[in-house]
Amino acid sequence: MGSIAVAADLVLRPATLDDAAFAADLWTAIYPDSPEDPVLTRYWWEHPHDDGVWERHVALLGGRPVGFAAQGHPRWEDMPERWGRTQADLLPEARTAERHDALLAFAEARSAADGARRATLWAWETDPFKLASAQRRGFREERRERFWELDLVAHRDRLLREAEATRARLREQGIRILTLAEDGDPARYDKLWRLAEEASRDEPRTVPWTPTPFSAFRSWLRNPGIREDRAWIARSGDGIVGISLLAYPPVRGIVVTEWTGTARSMRGRGVARALKYETVAQATLLGVDRVRTDNDFQNKPILHLNEAMGYEPRPEAIQLVKELAP
Ligand SMILES: CC(C)(COP(=O)(O)OP(=O)(O)OC[C@H]1O[C@@H](n2cnc3c(N)ncnc32)[C@H](O)[C@@H]1OP(=O)(O)O)[C@@H](O)C(=O)NCCC(=O)NCCS
Repeated sequence: MGSIAVAADLVLRPATLDDAAFAADLWTAIYPDSPEDPVLTRYWWEHPHDDGVWERHVALLGGRPVGFAAQGHPRWEDMPERWGRTQADLLPEARTAERHDALLAFAEARSAADGARRATLWAWETDPFKLASAQRRGFREERRERFWELDLVAHRDRLLREAEATRARLREQGIRILTLAEDGDPARYDKLWRLAEEASRDEPRTVPWTPTPFSAFRSWLRNPGIREDRAWIARSGDGIVGISLLAYPPVRGIVVTEWTGTARSMRGRGVARALKYETVAQATLLGVDRVRTDNDFQNKPILHLNEAMGYEPRPEAIQLVKELAP
């Protein structure tokens, strides 16, 4: 999708899958403290989380790639409110206000042309340049994603001890914890998908929840950061009642919680706590020195758990929103 365009002194050409490595390098150059994995970036371009639509452009300066603009959205039939996603970024040496504003304006225009009525944009709170550009374009802060890091070296003994205690608490309630690789139930993926569809609805959000087709769920679980012998699930009787897993970036980046969710009927019984501890204990024993996790700033149970486990807060990401002209 997309065609050649111009934004300020940049030429924009449609991106191909081979540009995913450039996009990952670009984000890593702007935010070296949060390296992006090129293999994972390419995978997500090929297999969007929610099976949504994306249109991406690479920005060239004198023929050299220096920036990136994109817009995307869930399938509109799943979201009558028509929230679009926009992205605009430039390499540090190419960052000027004029170029950034033009790149963002381009992404917004493509989003509106694709039928979006509102746009979202993410920016780190530590990036005043990007936030200023967003503000000039009429975006305003809507909500925040809180980021955390846990030092597995400093807290090794405590974490392993507490993992054992949380495991025991579940055993007493007849809830089993095992890895997905250890689970022989032929219906396990279908059960996990239903659990994820139930739990993901409960995350606080501004942009309405949309369903994930089973095929997209399977692609998510097959992403190159995931291993089934490192994906932890909880079982109660015949049902799967929880999942928590870390993503291990194959090329570069920090090991991070991919997702945690539990069945509504099981909340408050320590299932998420035990699963999260299990992932962290496994990473500790594998020699990982630190893990990260993130959650919406209003997600009280998971905020409480992350604090209780000893995660230290990191800079937050801000979700900005804007009404697009009809
Ligand atoms: C977040 C979630 C995984 C927690 O699952 P859970 O199995 O209920 O979690 P646990 O029982 O292990 O622990 C929840 C803790 O939060 C606490 N809690 C619950 N509601 C709370 C609130 N409103 N304010 C403060 N603490 C709260 C509980 O008391 C418990 O702490 P405790 O063990 O110290 O008493 C579950 O609510 C869920 O699936 N939510 C939707 C998906 C989601 O948001 N996932 C996280 C994405 S980052």
